[in-house]
Amino acid sequence: MSVDLEKILRPVDTPMAPYVPKYMLLASGEAVVVRPVERDEIPDILKHVEPLLHVERDYYDVVGARLYSELLAHYRHRYQDQYVLAVQIDGELAAVVNGRQVNPKLGMSLHTVALRRGLRVGAHAFAAKMEYHFDELGHDEVLVVAESPIGFRRWMIEYKLEKRFEVPHELGGVPSWALTRELFDAARSSLVVGRRPVPPELLDKAMDKILPPSDPPTPALDPLSATRSKYDPTATALMVERWAMERAEEASKDA
Ligand SMILES: CC(C)(COP(=O)(O)OP(=O)(O)OC[C@H]1O[C@@H](n2cnc3c(N)ncnc32)[C@H](O)[C@@H]1OP(=O)(O)O)[C@@H](O)C(=O)NCCC(=O)NCCS
Repeated sequence: MSVDLEKILRPVDTPMAPYVPKYMLLASGEAVVVRPVERDEIPDILKHVEPLLHVERDYYDVVGARLYSELLAHYRHRYQDQYVLAVQIDGELAAVVNGRQVNPKLGMSLHTVALRRGLRVGAHAFAAKMEYHFDELGHDEVLVVAESPIGFRRWMIEYKLEKRFEVPHELGGVPSWALTRELFDAARSSLVVGRRPVPPELLDKAMDKILPPSDPPTPALDPLSATRSKYDPTATALMVERWAMERAEEASKDA
């Protein structure tokens, strides 16, 4: 009985062409490899996405929570036609991207998360997934949304995306933007980089193990967060605490 029900609950993935790994050099001089992530590697990625749920800055929390849910559902066979790519520097996880095929002509961009900042790894990861949608999967158009202002700058502005506001995106039902094949071809020479095949030593290092990010985004040290959590936006609790500490310090000096 339970086996039969699983047949109904588990979506049947449409066969999709594999992503062919590529590599490139970053502005830092480091080599990065972009490669597909197999289903059984998903837990190795989830443990580095989970801490992002607590990083408010640049919407890592919202994107992290959504990405975690998509990856987990993919791992547990509860998401249809999803692919995941990892970007690695010397094995270290530097970015994760995912997306899915809606139908043979339409792609849906899901998420892009950079775990190393300031090197455009996120931008390169997004370019790699768009390349996959157009060159390997043969899509005519990919629907995109941005949760963060940096994302909006990177995708909507840099690629000059077209509005598809009449189409609700799968990510929260917000209005969609579209990257068409024409727009992607126009952006190719400036935004899409990388070479194939990946030298064997680089590829082996990437495929061997997904190593933890060395400098991932972390929650800001925000002393006001304590008062916010007490519904105290004027920070009175913090000031009262500080005065009590000052009084105790004065008293110890006087003693
Ligand atoms: C959007 C995102 C993928 C872009 O990644 P990226 O291309 O590697 O770019 P970064 O985020 O590292 O940097 C973006 C800008 O912030 C600056 N920046 C922010 N934090 C930085 C840091 N710690 N060190 C250095 N630069 C930093 C960069 O200089 C860069 O400026 P630029 O646009 O003038 O080049 C990434 O910001 C991210 O993962 N954000 C959170 C999740 C998100 O919003 N995803 C996209 C959903 S639409």
